[in-house]
Amino acid sequence: MATIAAPDIAERPITPVDVSANALYTENRWHDPFAELRRTMPLSYRPDSPFGGYWSAVTYDLVQQIEIDHATFSSAWDRGNITIADGVGEVEFPNFIAQDPPIHTAQRKVIAPAFSPSQMGAREKQVVERCRMLLDALPQGETFDWVEQVSIPMTIGMLLILFDMPYDEWRDIKRWSDWASGVSADNLTDEYRAEFMVQMGAMLARFDRELEDRRAKEPTDDLLSRMIHSEAMGNMSPMERIANIALLIVGGNDTTRNSMSGMVEALDRFPDQLDVLHGDRSLVPNAAQEIIRWQSPVTHMRRTATCDTELAGQRIREGEKIVMWYISANRDENVFEDADRFDVTRKNARRHLGFGAGIHRCVGARLAEIQIGTLITEIVERNWRIVPQAEPTRLASPFLHGFTQMPVRIETRG
Ligand code: HEM
Repeated sequence: MATIAAPDIAERPITPVDVSANALYTENRWHDPFAELRRTMPLSYRPDSPFGGYWSAVTYDLVQQIEIDHATFSSAWDRGNITIADGVGEVEFPNFIAQDPPIHTAQRKVIAPAFSPSQMGAREKQVVERCRMLLDALPQGETFDWVEQVSIPMTIGMLLILFDMPYDEWRDIKRWSDWASGVSADNLTDEYRAEFMVQMGAMLARFDRELEDRRAKEPTDDLLSRMIHSEAMGNMSPMERIANIALLIVGGNDTTRNSMSGMVEALDRFPDQLDVLHGDRSLVPNAAQEIIRWQSPVTHMRRTATCDTELAGQRIREGEKIVMWYISANRDENVFEDADRFDVTRKNARRHLGFGAGIHRCVGARLAEIQIGTLITEIVERNWRIVPQAEPTRLASPFLHGFTQMPVRIETRG
């Protein structure tokens, strides 16, 4: 992290509220601080936080501008990290989301074909099958946890299909995913770092067995086979293997999971929207996009300045971190009319930045849309209303915006 001279800081608009604080998210109080920032300081600087000093970009246009200029605003792990936290205890974490070109370009090319339209056609059938099986097994007339019984098994099940691994390993995948994505001020301790490495080591041991198995076989469509049979990812160091596997399990897991739980909250707050979907089922794909905009399951991504530069009239120094708050950009009133409203007919729902933009835009976006769309369709077809029975428990993280528990009951729509 760059050391910033005092005169520099004196000239900067200072972020009045530390928007990296967990409490804003666990208590669902993030709306007002970001709305205020969008109105008064689209780019501001917070000199002190548990994660050190950081810039906050909060408007749609500014986030997009940073995303597109990857030469100035780097994702490279060795310049910092892709989250507000500077990696876990200086441990290198070289996955391809945390690389710039040319490494990023070469490794993304290995993974992207697994999400091509033809691959997605085949996956869609598996998603529908899994979704029906899960929903058929839900208790009727009883309270249950939507996160545990729907959002988690649905998304991890898909991930295990992509890896071509047995479903009964889902608990291990969930645990490793939670460790790999644990960005929180509470995690900046030596104990956390030590346990993090233990968990990542166990994950590597498990996946190395699978990778070696695939190496010995003819190439297939699954993600592990694609990796091991490629030039760009076939001979990675142990840390590169850990980091890339963690990327795939976090990328494909918490994000879609929290969209599926966010859907319940959105339809509960705006019950008329379920009626709209019943009236016109062709709106389902748009509704999936609107859920991602409204929920913004990835709260932010971070970049690091590769040189001294100017942005939105501010001087940014080489090495400083800039946090792009998607959660705020997706509520930008200049782009999304009545932005806090959940509206499945919203004309520009697809313009959301929940998947990012530019060269790192989410590679799994289409798969996420299919999974969320399938879940909505199945709920509509069953004529269900998913009714929360208590306030959900929200994730303590400024990085992933989601839920740990959501008690609900199924009711039939009247
Ligand atoms: C609603 C669900 C999802 C959301 C909101 C989401 C969000 C994101 C975001 C914000 C980025 C970074 C974009 C940037 O830096 O500009 C990203 C990248 C990525 N996502 Fe997703 N994601 C979702 C689902 C998935 C799924 C299902 C997978 C795979 C199974 C996946 C795998 C990845 C990967 C591998 C990257 C790195 C791409 C790169 O660096 O080129 N994501 N995602």
